[in-house]
Amino acid sequence: MDKHPVKLAPSILAADFARLGEQVAEAERAGADRIHVDVMDGHFVPNLSMGAPIVASLRQVTRLPLETHLMISDPDFFLEEFADAGSDSFLVHWEGNANLHRTLQRIKILGKRAGVVINPATPATALEEILQDVEQVLIMTVNPGFGHQHFIHTTLPKVRRVRQMIDEIGLSCDLEVDGGVDSETAPLAVAAGANVLVAGTSIFGEREGVAAAMGRLRAAIQLWDKQPQRV
Ligand code: DX5
Ligand code: ZN
Repeated sequence: MDKHPVKLAPSILAADFARLGEQVAEAERAGADRIHVDVMDGHFVPNLSMGAPIVASLRQVTRLPLETHLMISDPDFFLEEFADAGSDSFLVHWEGNANLHRTLQRIKILGKRAGVVINPATPATALEEILQDVEQVLIMTVNPGFGHQHFIHTTLPKVRRVRQMIDEIGLSCDLEVDGGVDSETAPLAVAAGANVLVAGTSIFGEREGVAAAMGRLRAAIQLWDKQPQRV
């Protein structure tokens, strides 16, 4: 845990869009490390979400890094627009991208952080030839497209394997998980080696409010950290 302090990335997909600025400011005050923006095109995933104007509006209300998770068929077409709007990093999927290396190069040319995402059915070995070129890996712990889904526990051995791969090469790459992260599953992901947790419903969907929800997540992670034998 000391080696990989855990960062929280609230996903605004679960926020109240009528109060988006307010909710993001609350997350920032409560110690969020970055804001996760889920972009869906109704083609790569069977759902629509948001585009660059949301990023531009968020840029006005928060100083936190805005990480943009592109669940779209042609990420290259939209990189510049999101970069201009204020995205600080891009997470692009391994699946369906015949020229992933080129996409990552384009992100770097724009001066942004580049991350690669793998879906639950994609093996860790898919990352072997690309790991050196990214600053972040995101392992989907649900199938992408919707918030409020159940964490897929069979992805945990893959998180462990990717943590080993990152450590073996000696990279400082972030290892992030996304989907179904709550106070039950967050400690499992951290124990497997994740150091960034995306959480939508368990942060923005709680009646108790954003700050209390984030406090609960952090407490769950710390509790686990004190009991490493349970890993
Ligand atoms: C799913 C998205 C996630 C989603 C997570 O396709 O990539 O970022 O917002 O939502 P929860 O935390 O509710 O599972
Ligand atoms: Zn996401």
